[in-house]
Amino acid sequence: MKKIDMSINLGGLQLKNPVMPASGTFDLYENTPLPYDVKRLGAVITKSIFLEKRFGNPSPRICESTSGLINALGTPGKGVEYLIKKKLPVFQKANQTVIVSIGGNGLKEFKLLAERLEQVEGIDAIELDLSCPNNENNIIVAKDEFLTEQTIAQVKEVSTKPIIAKLSPNVTDITKIARAAQKGGADILSLINTISAMAIDIKTKKPVLGNKVGGLSGPAIKPIALKMVWDVAHTVDLPIIGIGGISSSKDAIEFLLAGASAVEVGTAALIDPLVMLEIIQGIEDYLRQQGYHSIKEIVGLAFKNH
Ligand SMILES: Cc1cc2nc3c(=O)[nH]c(=O)nc-3n(C[C@H](O)[C@H](O)[C@H](O)COP(=O)(O)O)c2cc1C
Repeated sequence: MKKIDMSINLGGLQLKNPVMPASGTFDLYENTPLPYDVKRLGAVITKSIFLEKRFGNPSPRICESTSGLINALGTPGKGVEYLIKKKLPVFQKANQTVIVSIGGNGLKEFKLLAERLEQVEGIDAIELDLSCPNNENNIIVAKDEFLTEQTIAQVKEVSTKPIIAKLSPNVTDITKIARAAQKGGADILSLINTISAMAIDIKTKKPVLGNKVGGLSGPAIKPIALKMVWDVAHTVDLPIIGIGGISSSKDAIEFLLAGASAVEVGTAALIDPLVMLEIIQGIEDYLRQQGYHSIKEIVGLAFKNH
């Protein structure tokens, strides 16, 4: 059988294949192995971490929606020192490319986290979850061009690792934010995070989620995410990781053709942990059937063809 080169280099981040989990929907535990070999993924990624412990939002934190999930977890976590001491060693044992996702209440926290992680070995890239609320002025970084540029620039001042800027779809024009991220020095862009959403219980006549509002993920958002990847790929000259509702190899291939060089899978992998392996295999089969030798040959093809 013809060998297909599934490897891809994203702005200095080398992946053995283009399929990895989305932050917050994946974890590794010392004594609970996953039902598959983690080494087969393109990379592994942590849930977004903050400097300090966070309890997250009141429950209920997740509800189902047609073809999707609405979550308002509020990024609970045990803080960066716990991540470094307890979580990272488990991730590193997986013998995989490790991406650490960081949150931040404002510019300063992103910079402090990047500075702290710079002292730690075995981290291959950092993804900035720019959708976190900013306590300094109550503006979400990823909703503001200036804040996006500044946050990334400050992280780049202290970090030598490839920086992935994760963009929010909850903006008027994502291409403006993508440009700002490029100006700030991002090495890679990932998009999209969840889309602002809510559900109301008609019996209680109240919002379903404890936080009242949350973010929609899953198949419902795929066409929207795909269009945003397409728009951003036309705008900036950075590698893109496509995220949003990817549930099959066909979905993933659509993102690659639209201009993404890799994909992250979230909600679909919560439902079926083995789906990422099926997606990897499906992409490889497609490339073989279509007569390609490498994944790189199809990145952005729909853009070139239109
Ligand atoms: C339960 C849950 C938790 C999430 N936590 C995070 C997080 O900590 N950091 C982050 O950047 N995105 C987080 N996300 C967003 C996902 O990484 C992803 O961007 C989004 O769900 C869209 O992809 P999907 O439709 O494949 O799930 C979370 C999503 C879900 C459903």
